[in-house]
Amino acid sequence: MNEMEERRGRKIIMFPLPFPGHFNPMIELAGIFHHRGFSVTILHTSYNSPDPSRHPHFTFRTIHHNNEGEEEDQDPLSRSKASGMDLMALIRQLKQSYTEPFRQSLAAEVSGGETVCCLVSDAIWGRSTKVAAEEAGVGRVVLRTGGAASFCAFAAFPLLRDKGYFPIQDSRLDDLVIELPPLKVKDLPVIETNDPEELYRIINDMVDGAKSSSGVIWNTFEDLERFQLMDLSDNFQVPFFPIGPFHKHSEDLPSTKNNKEDYAITSWLDKQDPKSVVYVSFGSLAAIEEKEFLQIAWGLRNSEQPFLWVVRPGLVRGNEWLEALPSGFVENIGHMGKFVKWANQLNVLAHPAVGAFWTHCGWNSTLESICEGVPMICTPCFTDQLVNTRYIVDVWQVGIMLERSKMDKNEIEQVVRSAMIDKGDAMRERCMALKERADICLRKDGSSSNNLDKLVTHVLSFDS
Ligand code: UDX
Repeated sequence: MNEMEERRGRKIIMFPLPFPGHFNPMIELAGIFHHRGFSVTILHTSYNSPDPSRHPHFTFRTIHHNNEGEEEDQDPLSRSKASGMDLMALIRQLKQSYTEPFRQSLAAEVSGGETVCCLVSDAIWGRSTKVAAEEAGVGRVVLRTGGAASFCAFAAFPLLRDKGYFPIQDSRLDDLVIELPPLKVKDLPVIETNDPEELYRIINDMVDGAKSSSGVIWNTFEDLERFQLMDLSDNFQVPFFPIGPFHKHSEDLPSTKNNKEDYAITSWLDKQDPKSVVYVSFGSLAAIEEKEFLQIAWGLRNSEQPFLWVVRPGLVRGNEWLEALPSGFVENIGHMGKFVKWANQLNVLAHPAVGAFWTHCGWNSTLESICEGVPMICTPCFTDQLVNTRYIVDVWQVGIMLERSKMDKNEIEQVVRSAMIDKGDAMRERCMALKERADICLRKDGSSSNNLDKLVTHVLSFDS
């Protein structure tokens, strides 16, 4: 029996967290498994549920949460969007609402006939997926969608708490965290929340859930985070599979169709000079105040660099979209600036006109920028973004920091010019070198490619 035949009828069940920064890499991983001959079933939450027609290779099953059937205004998840519930409270609510329904769905899926190799669950679901997988009698592998450096910081939370780093004191912000160099206290991956204990619980549960799994899949590559992966692997007694960057396993991935807006963006970029455009996007979750939005707008305009700015509806608190801009602002900018609600970021970063990416440094954005050799302007908002930024700026030296607290229009103008003009070439050169390392890791016999072979063997060993 050849390898492909052996895998036919072998199913992998995936359980993503329902946010684009987590769902997208899970879908990319699904494409990688599919290309290797597995069938993939995605168990997804009814909250933020995806459009299955965009991913015809996979089977989708919706899990309905516990609160459904209650009056809409009684259901905390329905209310979360309207009330702007803080992210930790939302994650707690998701875990509460879906743990039991997930357990039942997994059990039903496993008893469905086709051999199930394993469950791949997002690390943030934590230990609850361990219990469900054990009951259903399937192996459980965890996907960590973020980088290894930030996970080192998350894994150190109990130690950092004991040492008095938390709650973070303003007087210590610029101190080095001697246990986690080169991080400073201000880089520790926390988030504003009404209940800091909830943050510690979610982080510790994520780390424990990964430690007690049968393996961790990482969307990173060894040449980027070798020492961080080694540090973690010394403490975790489970196999690691750094097989990233996922989105560059191109032949393994379902292609995404461009829409009308994507064509309009490409056509605008086509008219710009090479490496002249600042691409601005703060991911799918971060929100900014109206006054920050205005400072960014003026700073970009005054820098006199062309810009493409993703202003996601919901990005500017209390605003639908661009209405906070002074009247005539967009018209006066003319062809020098383009505002969009969403972009095909992979296409944008790959376009030769893009000279820098002003980003919040979510892990996907960070990897995507590195993989196109595009230097970054870094304005982290919360959690892993803070750690990613320190590595981008100080370790890999492919970005400039623009701290949120210092974000006035003059500072923005100066940093944008610096990234595009003074420091641009040197940062781009280093970023191109990292891009080449990523390409090498993905080639036959490269580390990501070898790790993927090991992952496939590992997954097949569960049901033997
Ligand atoms: C979240 C967290 O905020 C982040 O810190 C964590 O690392 C992952 O989960 P998000 O804020 O959305 O993610 O940022 P990021 O990780 O960068 O993911 C955003 C994804 O959306 C990227 O894959 C990006 O390509 C995509 N995107 C974003 C678009 O395709 N178009 C856009 O206009 C904006």
